[in-house]
Amino acid sequence: MTQKKPWQGRFSAETDEVFEVFSESLSFDYRLFSQDIAGSIAHCRMLVKQAIIPKESGDKIIQALKKVREEIAAGKIEFDPAWEDIHMAVEACVISKTGPVGGAMHTARSRNDQVATDLRLYVRDSILEIQSLLSGLMTAFIEKAKQYIDVILPGLTHLQHAQAVRFSHHLMAYVEMLRRDSQRLSDALKRVNVLPLGSGALSGTTFPLDREYVADQLGFEAISRNSMDAVSDRDFVVEFLAAAALIMAHLSRFSEDLIIWNSAYARFIELPDALTTGSSMMPQKKNPDGAELIRGKSGRVFGHLMAMLTVLKGLPMTYNRDLQEDKEPLFDAVDTVKAAISVAVLLVKGLEAIPERMAEATAWGYLQATDLADYLAKKGIPFRDAHAIVGRLVAHAIENGKALSAYTTEELQKFSPLFEKDALEVTAIDKGVDQRSGFGMTGRSAVMEQIEFAENNYLKNRETHSEKK
Ligand code: ARG
Repeated sequence: MTQKKPWQGRFSAETDEVFEVFSESLSFDYRLFSQDIAGSIAHCRMLVKQAIIPKESGDKIIQALKKVREEIAAGKIEFDPAWEDIHMAVEACVISKTGPVGGAMHTARSRNDQVATDLRLYVRDSILEIQSLLSGLMTAFIEKAKQYIDVILPGLTHLQHAQAVRFSHHLMAYVEMLRRDSQRLSDALKRVNVLPLGSGALSGTTFPLDREYVADQLGFEAISRNSMDAVSDRDFVVEFLAAAALIMAHLSRFSEDLIIWNSAYARFIELPDALTTGSSMMPQKKNPDGAELIRGKSGRVFGHLMAMLTVLKGLPMTYNRDLQEDKEPLFDAVDTVKAAISVAVLLVKGLEAIPERMAEATAWGYLQATDLADYLAKKGIPFRDAHAIVGRLVAHAIENGKALSAYTTEELQKFSPLFEKDALEVTAIDKGVDQRSGFGMTGRSAVMEQIEFAENNYLKNRETHSEKK
């Protein structure tokens, strides 16, 4: 039998066609080509340095690898499904350039430690890209927070009007969430950035490898300590997907806020035409589909996390082909998160507040009620009693269709003689908001402090990654 596959030495029959389609991964793992080639170049250099293969062979192979990388990047290589996966595809392309000597490239290596290495490089690259996108999104939020520093809107609990807050305070809440997302990725990166190559199929190899040298070339900060763990570990994919899922959860929550602000009930913001869509039937419609799609796409990323955990849960040591199922969820999560962040940036940059609508809603929401109760409590009335007094005032206001800010001192005094002229500073919305000047609060000075801190500390958070190339 002529061998179609490099591993077919012991086989006497060809692979079934239906099974071949079922088992191939080249149709999706081609995306790992540059990581695969980077790993092979580093491996080859090491084989030469350790005198495991002759320098001439190594040089030839490395040259061919670089050429193959160019050709794949330029779309010049037509992949043959019989190659199965990107590792075999690259090897076949190299051998077609070098002749049989190219086969030396796979000395002291298995696809098991190879694919684990490729995937770690891919996750590392993706983390760095996503962190830079997150930084762009935080910047967009910060810019909007500055632009709208004096705009006030009703803050909600239970989706009910609660207390007045600065719009910028609300926007900066997302910056805090995104900052944690970025930190979570940095933390995951420590465990991603470990070299599995040298673990062989599962037990290592009899060749005198220099794994440190390979790690150094590829910018890995450590090398794996147990070859069996190294070839079967995909914890780093789970950790990445968990971080990705939380990013999507945050973007989805933001989308939900946008959708509410943009709804006919609130009309607090206007979204740009470029980021909304019309209806095929209703001529008047302008729908916030960008935000809805971010919210909708969060579901698939959560699903990918669950898929990966499920693939792993029943695996005996060590490598099992099930692990090939790690790639599609990972790739789709990376694509989805990157696209969702990019669209979120556009939405944040493009949204325009309608401060008059926000002010109107704030005036009518009885949002100063807590502050009025606090006012009485500061004058010595137990808070519970103060709460009841202001409750009666609110009931009166509702009954008479009156805003709390419309009450005069004398009118307030009918509810408690302790109300004096300065109570009007409490019922004036913006003054009440600015009294919340403590650390982390919604007063102007406190929000300015948040913005400044974020600008100085959140946007250039690259300190944890070494990108040795
Ligand atoms: N395509 C395979 C994967 O993604 C590569 C490793 C194959 N290893 C093996 N022993 N069949 O997992």
